[in-house]
Amino acid sequence: MNYKRNLLITGGAGFIGSHVVRLFVTKYPDYRIINLDKLTYAGNLANLKDIEASPNYLFVKADICDFEKIQELLAQYRVDGIIHLAAESHVDRSIKDPFTFARTNVMGTLTLLQAAKLYWESLPEGYEGKRFYHISTDEVYGALELTKPNGIKSDISAHEVYGDEFFRETTKYNPHSPYSASKASSDHFVRAFHDTYGMPTIVTNCSNNYGPYQFPEKLIPLFINNIRHRKPLPVYGKGENVRDWLYVVDHARAIDLIFHKGKIAETYNIGGFNEWKNIDIIKVVIRTVDRLLGRKEGEDLDLITYVTDRKGHDLRYAIDSTKLKTELGWEPSLQFEEGIELTVKWYLENQAWMDNITSGEYEKYYEEMYRNR
Ligand code: NAD
Ligand code: TYD
Repeated sequence: MNYKRNLLITGGAGFIGSHVVRLFVTKYPDYRIINLDKLTYAGNLANLKDIEASPNYLFVKADICDFEKIQELLAQYRVDGIIHLAAESHVDRSIKDPFTFARTNVMGTLTLLQAAKLYWESLPEGYEGKRFYHISTDEVYGALELTKPNGIKSDISAHEVYGDEFFRETTKYNPHSPYSASKASSDHFVRAFHDTYGMPTIVTNCSNNYGPYQFPEKLIPLFINNIRHRKPLPVYGKGENVRDWLYVVDHARAIDLIFHKGKIAETYNIGGFNEWKNIDIIKVVIRTVDRLLGRKEGEDLDLITYVTDRKGHDLRYAIDSTKLKTELGWEPSLQFEEGIELTVKWYLENQAWMDNITSGEYEKYYEEMYRNR
């Protein structure tokens, strides 16, 4: 079949990537979707069981640092668009092992850029109709002050905010963790390929995602699983750090819109104006799990265990996504209350998915993490 577009999605077996692959495979049957993933501890083909037999879907196990392999794939499938999500993504792991983050996030992104440059420049039409879309994080902007520790309603958002400042597309990069430093570096390389070679690039910086298929080392799935098994919930520091949460399907919808309608060389911030203090979101998760498991609501609050804070723990993230709303008309489709209900239900109903991940190596890693705190 002659496909209308041939898209390479990297990191498609991970959390956000699997939602993006699913959306593109089902919404665009006339696109060929090539999912390239190394299947690290975070990659899981079970995340894509429902679409793996689709005729327009193809999985390739490969490392984004493998220059020859990437070059071969781009030419073999005449790739005209790249949506790049593959990365090492967990801050705690980056604190223990920063080299892996520099390798995958910086060198891997540069490898993809250079391979795409050579392939696209070799074609008669060059960069016309091509697109390199890099998925990044709001953590590159650093941390915001917590000037309103008790939260207030703000003009910019109908929701509670915890400070006067927001991350905007114009905010200066100021990353603090090895993870955010590696993502910042990769963002700079992507923009440099536009400015130097004219590659049609786009970068988006999104806030914390939550939803189905997230690896249970991140706050929400880790805590849902621990509550279910009545294990301690390790809250870093005082639990007062603020994160801005977005339902993963809304991130995937934004990626679809920006890939098709976003302006070349632009940056868009993606977020749902949904700030929460960790301790507050943890209490919502506990109450929701208790209710859905038929336990007395709140009976597991005593699992909360304050532990040594994360090194360099960023205090507050808050995204201003006004540009995306005004220029492209994107808005989150779900209220947080609906999103968290759907998420908790999904994890409770998909215990086999969770058990599969949390057997073996996972236990050892967590025992060690917890012992070191
Ligand atoms: P994830 O850790 O769940 O998935 C990452 C995927 O990349 C995995 O499938 C893994 O196997 C693959 N991968 C890792 N190294 C690779 C390599 N060298 N070659 C090929 N594949 C490799 O991550 P996620 O949470 O889905 O994040 C996806 C992207 O979105 C990342 O770039 C991340 O920085 C960004 N992001 C994440 C969030 C969030 O809240 N999770 C928010 C904003 C931006
Ligand atoms: P996380 O899900 O790791 O995302 P990120 O570090 O990218 O924001 O953590 C979200 C917040 O929850 C962050 O402030 C750290 C905190 N946290 C805990 O308090 N305990 C935990 O066990 C984890 C994993 C995170």
